[in-house]
Amino acid sequence: MTHGRYRSETLGERHPRADFSCGVEALDRYFHQQAGQDQRRGLAVPYVLVDTTSGAVVGYYTLSTLSIVPASLPVAVTRRLPRYQTFPGILIGRLAVDQRARGQGLGAMLLMDALRRCLDLSRQIGAMAVVVDARDEAARAFYERYGFLRLVDHDYRLFLPMATIAQL
Ligand SMILES: CC(C)(COP(=O)(O)OP(=O)(O)OC[C@H]1O[C@@H](n2cnc3c(N)ncnc32)[C@H](O)[C@@H]1OP(=O)(O)O)[C@@H](O)C(=O)NCCC(=O)NCCS
Repeated sequence: MTHGRYRSETLGERHPRADFSCGVEALDRYFHQQAGQDQRRGLAVPYVLVDTTSGAVVGYYTLSTLSIVPASLPVAVTRRLPRYQTFPGILIGRLAVDQRARGQGLGAMLLMDALRRCLDLSRQIGAMAVVVDARDEAARAFYERYGFLRLVDHDYRLFLPMATIAQL
């Protein structure tokens, strides 16, 4: 997907990885060392946001499937659903913007790109919500700005119903 001078695409060998730095060691190390392996093993698909003027990777996120246990959803949501053991969802496991590119709307762009992709995927394979893992309170506050709700049994795991995403 293209957003002005930025383009999102699946991670490939051509993308420069070593330079990326979001300032959170675990997220940087994952991107430098683990993301490609996870991709090859089918554990997650990393997507990168590339600045087409420089070729630099300014952000990334990962997508995987996950099963949502009904007990972790608010009753207001499960009330309208059948009594299945689990519900299918899509996990944004990690999302980060390079610290040199912060505060310019790229985090919002990256999240909207991920949600758009999740919505498209949910039209090909069942997924009733997008789940995110926020690593701390600041990240949780970032997601809550966009309407993400807390799962009842996780302080830092949030969800957004696909029906809400379709309306965005
Ligand atoms: C969280 C993160 C992705 C935001 O990226 P960014 O490019 O600075 O964000 P944007 O410029 O798009 O900001 C979008 C909006 O979110 C707000 N925002 C940004 N960071 C925020 C935070 N930590 N808490 C609350 N709100 C935040 C901005 O003020 C902005 O609001 P506005 O539209 O009213 O101006 C980035 O700070 C980051 O990579 N952090 C380290 C990794 C991380 O915590 N990832 C998230 C979970 S794993």
